[in-house]
Amino acid sequence: MIDHTRYLSGAARAYEESAIRRIGAMGTRVPDLISFAPGYPAPSTFPWDELRAIATELLERRDGNVLQYGGTRGYRPLVEQVVHALTGRGVRTTVDEIIITTGSQQGLDLACRVLADPGDVVFVELPTYSGAIAAFRNLGATLVGVPQDEDGISIQGLHDEIDAVRADGLRARFIYVTPNFQNPTGLLMSARRRLEVLELARQHNLLIVEDDPYGSLYFEDRTRVEETRPMKADDTDGRVVYLGSFSKTLAPGFRVAWLTAAPTLANRVELAKQATDLCSGVFDQRIVHQAMARGVVQAMAPQLRTLYQEKCAVMESALRETLGDDVSWTSPRGGFFLWARFAPQVDDLRLFDRAIANRVSFVIGSAFYVTDDGHRLARLSFSAPTPEQIVEGVRRLGRAVAELSSPSHLHAG
Ligand SMILES: Cc1ncc(COP(=O)(O)O)c(C=O)c1O
Repeated sequence: MIDHTRYLSGAARAYEESAIRRIGAMGTRVPDLISFAPGYPAPSTFPWDELRAIATELLERRDGNVLQYGGTRGYRPLVEQVVHALTGRGVRTTVDEIIITTGSQQGLDLACRVLADPGDVVFVELPTYSGAIAAFRNLGATLVGVPQDEDGISIQGLHDEIDAVRADGLRARFIYVTPNFQNPTGLLMSARRRLEVLELARQHNLLIVEDDPYGSLYFEDRTRVEETRPMKADDTDGRVVYLGSFSKTLAPGFRVAWLTAAPTLANRVELAKQATDLCSGVFDQRIVHQAMARGVVQAMAPQLRTLYQEKCAVMESALRETLGDDVSWTSPRGGFFLWARFAPQVDDLRLFDRAIANRVSFVIGSAFYVTDDGHRLARLSFSAPTPEQIVEGVRRLGRAVAELSSPSHLHAG
């Protein structure tokens, strides 16, 4: 066999496997594993009956367009629905500014592809979504991390990093943020901070890529819908590229999401997408369109909010009971994730090993950093497991932490 690595492009050589995918693959090898690792929606929420009816009707008509190639920008009636839904969230946009993407993951790739050349700088939150790190790095972008506090990304931190990057003669392109229930921290950026980030981007002439897959999953007992207002809603000069997705609010298997950007950018994204996949799955888009037209997606939203709020509460009380002072976190106000901080002696990789031995998994904190940080942290996802699994998984995690702090536990079984 020839040595195929010799044939790889420099970019392909540098590709990194996603920590979440690697951990997911490990999970399939551990029997009876309870996983807090992937950001999967609860499968119990998938609207099987409605989707079966929609799919059957679409196929029974034998309309060739349903299974034919479609336009790169997406199925026009779906694009129109997205425009309408965004209007409801305060975002004024038009069909010329929307591209349906194959998941927001593709949106991240495409946005970076049209905005940054290899070596250009992208500012990201510390920590940030590991899938964005992978997408941007694979395209050769230089990622510069900016700390965040409870209100979101630090404005002073941004100023400092932008100045430092420019002093180094590098070209800064955009700031990537997830203001609503960030993956992995669950943080909600304050309204004021959103405006400050917009203002800073104007001052420094940068674009913003706003990723918002969790916006409608706010916990109604502690978050008002106004607090999830996208930054894009206050974007007066076309500075924000906004990404939304049906993955968390309908089902991720469809891989239907969207990107909203000023027409000049949207045109370039269209060309980049054409070369990548010609168009997103047409059948998937038709199903999602019908699910919107029949109000299925809209009816799910309040149920999802309640369900995830309840699951989050189960995880929080299980953590308090089982781990007490050994763990701390900021209570999530929506979304899928609890960002757990352990005692200083706990290292995320060592904890992960003990966790797997106890048949529970999570994503190590350091996977979400572009710096060498996060080793005391873990992303615990409460969205997919059942409440019973959450309680049992936290019990197992408690054993893993105890084994780390006192190795004699290992022998006690
Ligand atoms: C912040 C963030 N962006 C993008 C994605 C990708 O979502 P999609 O399924 O739409 O590709 C995820 C998925 O977990 C996410 O958490």
